[in-house]
Amino acid sequence: MLQRASEVASYLLDSKDVHIVTHIDADGITAGAIASETLRRLKKRYSIECVKQLDEVTLQRLIREDHELVWFTDLGSGITTQYPELRKIITDHHECPLESDVPFHLNPHLFGRDGSFELSGAGATYLVSRAVSEKNRDLSSLAIVGAIGDLQDRRFCELRGLNAEIVKDGVEAGVLQTVRDIRYFGKETRPLTKLLQYASDPLIPGVSGREDASVAFLQELQIELKQKDSWRSWVDLRKEEKRRVISAIVQMLLSKGFGYQVASRVLGETYLLCREEEGTELHDAKEFATLLNSTARYGQYEVGLQVCLGDRGKWLKEALNLLSGHRHNLVEGLQFAREEKIQKRTYVQYFHAGDGIRDTIIGIVTNMMLNTEEVDKGLPLIGFAHTENGEVKVSARATQHLVDRGLDLATALTRAAQEIHGVGGGHNIAAGATIPKGKEEEFLQCVEREIKLQLVS
Ligand code: C5P
Ligand code: C5P
Ligand code: ZN
Repeated sequence: MLQRASEVASYLLDSKDVHIVTHIDADGITAGAIASETLRRLKKRYSIECVKQLDEVTLQRLIREDHELVWFTDLGSGITTQYPELRKIITDHHECPLESDVPFHLNPHLFGRDGSFELSGAGATYLVSRAVSEKNRDLSSLAIVGAIGDLQDRRFCELRGLNAEIVKDGVEAGVLQTVRDIRYFGKETRPLTKLLQYASDPLIPGVSGREDASVAFLQELQIELKQKDSWRSWVDLRKEEKRRVISAIVQMLLSKGFGYQVASRVLGETYLLCREEEGTELHDAKEFATLLNSTARYGQYEVGLQVCLGDRGKWLKEALNLLSGHRHNLVEGLQFAREEKIQKRTYVQYFHAGDGIRDTIIGIVTNMMLNTEEVDKGLPLIGFAHTENGEVKVSARATQHLVDRGLDLATALTRAAQEIHGVGGGHNIAAGATIPKGKEEEFLQCVEREIKLQLVS
């Protein structure tokens, strides 16, 4: 794989002008930032754009624009053998067939690695950047923000495989630090009560989802919620206080019968960007990734990109403004999805948000829904939402347990979408598609047929 990274790097070195096309989430933005910074350091001319997905309209436009070289990051593995008129390199991690194995395509799946947890789009892009120059090892922290943004630590509560090697680069370069700590989101910037109220993987029974219960839980443990006039966050706790909270959560899970495997998910490896200030949205990789999702998923990718490239002034301020909107939309989106009744079928369950949830965040909301207490974990969950150009966005999420039994959502959604003239793709555990409006029922039937085959074979 490192050999392939060097081959891809040589395409870059041979070009003068490169156009980067990347994806609209945290992994896409960090991938785009690594690509831009690599080209800037090489003193190449470059431009960048961010897209929701690679559709025919975008591809035809790129062909007309006649770029010397297009660098697809965190997307593109579906078009390796098509569009020969497009001179391209691809650093991606989505599932792909073996015929995608062409010299300009770097993808973990082509080397027997699993792109859902071993390497992200930003990670694949970083491997090329590092092959260009060893001096680019400082960009490893962005690659880790991308991997965490794609939840690649979810399976083992830590990063593994090629991701773990990138972590090592980051530690050696002095840009990353790993800490074994509580895994919940918002350790640096969220008030403690919010950390527990929104805790989802694992859920804290009787506490998650309830503000009053999380206040009571902390008070019972005699944890001060405030320091002078400001709310304390997780990083403000003393070691002993942290231990008290963690062991109370673990005990709560065990006493409610969740078992050791679930309880042990409270703790895991967490990743800190040590050149960033503690207590900010940029210090912890999870929070950094959410900040980036607040920009590109709302059409403001430039904001996230500038923050990745080092801006700590006006762009960061703008990103923080967008963050509060994003948080609000997620809370509302989750509320909306909860009120929509989930329809159960034999092999999937689904909800249709219509115009109620933006198509760019339906994936995050579907993930959050699958983590709630009321949703059956034995079936994959599909969320539908309308897009602004009259189509339907589909997001599907499942548990590792179902994947271990043979489920592969990427294959199921790709095939089902193809049959109704849509497009789909992704990973075994999380996949998406865009399909024509009105075709939802037909799509569900095709997905069920595919999943049935996967689970018996
Ligand atoms: O397009 P991309 O690969 O960047 O997105 C990956 C998606 O897969 C993310 O939305 C992430 O939430 C989801 N995922 C997941 N569980 C995993 C790995 C990825 O839900 N174990
Ligand atoms: O959009 P969502 O977060 O649900 O996407 C889940 C996964 O499926 C991501 O990795 C995304 O890049 C992928 N996907 C895809 N083709 C689509 C839609 C989503 O490969 N049309
Ligand atoms: Zn990705």
